[in-house]
Amino acid sequence: MTEVGIKKAEQSHINETVRVIAVTSGKGGVGKSNVVINLAMAMDKLGKKVLILDADLGLANVDVLLGLNPQYNISHVLKGEKHISEILVQGPGNIKIMPASSGVQEMTHLSNEQKILLMDMFESMPMDFDVFLIDTGAGISDMVLYFNVIANEKIVIFTQEPTSLTDGYALIKVLYQKHGERYFKVLVNNIESEKQAKTIFSQISKVADHFLDGISLDFLGCIPKDQAIPKAVMQQRPLMEVFPESPAAKSFMNVAKRLLMTPPPSEHGAVRLFWKKLLNV
Ligand SMILES: Nc1ncnc2c1ncn2[C@@H]1O[C@H](COP(=O)(O)OP(=O)(O)O)[C@@H](O)[C@H]1O
Ligand SMILES: [Mg+2]
Repeated sequence: MTEVGIKKAEQSHINETVRVIAVTSGKGGVGKSNVVINLAMAMDKLGKKVLILDADLGLANVDVLLGLNPQYNISHVLKGEKHISEILVQGPGNIKIMPASSGVQEMTHLSNEQKILLMDMFESMPMDFDVFLIDTGAGISDMVLYFNVIANEKIVIFTQEPTSLTDGYALIKVLYQKHGERYFKVLVNNIESEKQAKTIFSQISKVADHFLDGISLDFLGCIPKDQAIPKAVMQQRPLMEVFPESPAAKSFMNVAKRLLMTPPPSEHGAVRLFWKKLLNV
């Protein structure tokens, strides 16, 4: 980084070594939003400052799951009505949420003036984050691919359902073939046993290794089927808060620890690079 760059980073308190992690899936309803919230909670408990970027375009469910009612979203920033720091919503613990399900699609075709304005805003954000967790939504739409590409780590959620396997694999394949993405972390959700999760992982790995040369899939862990999750959803409170002793909550803690222990792949570190990629500059 140049001297000017360093000064700017110091002034703006930007943490240059933020990890940008997309939580994604081929199929909807596999548990992405719950994973995002509870991994965020687990990392918060482990002392990390987490920003959730809710980029599930159709369904902004992070706020619903947390019982929040954000007044503003990224579209207000783009219209020049709000500063980026004014749209951040306080979640549980130290977690902040950037509501983006509305407006973020516009970020792919901004004017140069808008890009400069946003870049300035990002750089003057008051809070320092260790981790950005992005709820990308499901499928292989351009926006889902876009958020996966700009994140430097990708967690793909699978369940035991055959459609989750085929759709998740299809997503990995498109990211590999069209965007040259090679590193993926696999999280198996809603399963009966760890053995079952490992069987699912080895099925996906086998196919990926065979057809996608040089791909690297890591088993990040699994979250058991646990009725505490729908109960927490009904209460619109995070599982980690209402049922911290539940098997699923304990698994989220283990997955978060494993995630934080594993060094991120290359390209890690440049938060400004992330904002630049986000703005396509
Ligand atoms: N491990 C689990 N055990 C039991 N139910 C789960 C589990 N994970 C998710 N669910 C349920 O599945 C539904 C979909 O989860 P959600 O996080 O909204 O999925 P997505 O964001 O992928 O669409 C929720 O109603 C949630 O209660
Ligand atoms: Mg969701």
